[in-house]
Amino acid sequence: MDKNIPEHIAIIMDGNGRWAKKRFIPRKLGHRAGAQTLNKLIKYADEIGIKHMTVYAFSTENWSRSKEEVDALMNLLREYISDYIRDNKDSNIKVDMIGDISALDDDIQEKIKELEDVSSIKKGMNLHIAVNYGGRDEILRSLKKIYKNIEEGKISFNDITEKTISNFLDTRNFPDPDLIIRTSGELRLSNFMLWQAAYSEFYVTDKLWPDFNKDDLLDAIEQYKSRSRRFGGR
Ligand code: IPE
Ligand code: IPE
Ligand code: MG
Repeated sequence: MDKNIPEHIAIIMDGNGRWAKKRFIPRKLGHRAGAQTLNKLIKYADEIGIKHMTVYAFSTENWSRSKEEVDALMNLLREYISDYIRDNKDSNIKVDMIGDISALDDDIQEKIKELEDVSSIKKGMNLHIAVNYGGRDEILRSLKKIYKNIEEGKISFNDITEKTISNFLDTRNFPDPDLIIRTSGELRLSNFMLWQAAYSEFYVTDKLWPDFNKDDLLDAIEQYKSRSRRFGGR
């Protein structure tokens, strides 16, 4: 792969429910299949030299689903993190979470901390998993932190710039996504990366997330390379 590949790819992993429905199986099995797809894809993305990948796993609005589905998703998250730590001791990929983790059950928060700790020495692709993430909630949390810093005299009102806001978002340590991929054909952001998506390129496929594969990722990257990014210039 050449140097023109996106540095940061963000993915709205949508369509697990429809995938399960087509097979007449419970939605939770669709989510399970989606987690397996993610595992395959991150290895491939790391191999081809992607530096950052953010994946939208659970939104601030997903709490409004049935208790049964929310519980299944939280249990899947528990299992995913434990299995990931067990199976990826030799992996190069560095994992962290974005979103309001403080609202998750304590044991999940502890597992996340453990995963981030074992990841901290890794030097490969940075995988950011968005859990209880919402773009509006992220901006609101950022503004509250800025306000607190003003109150404590650490930032002065007149010094606030766009960079200040970026610096207080969950994504403060990495670049904005160059490419946002959404599966299942929906043409919306669903509260994902509202601030960061200002100049992202979009790739939408009708494929359902569990069916998304290496070739689809390559196709998205090829399309991205053919785009002309102008950032408002001529
Ligand atoms: C994406 O799949 C996973 C989550 C939002 C947690 P969906 O569960 O939204 O699948 P569809 O959109 O109903 O097919
Ligand atoms: C977006 O998918 C959230 C995730 C993929 C985690 P949704 O399925 O929740 O989005 P809507 O409801 O179709 O907008
Ligand atoms: Mg959906």
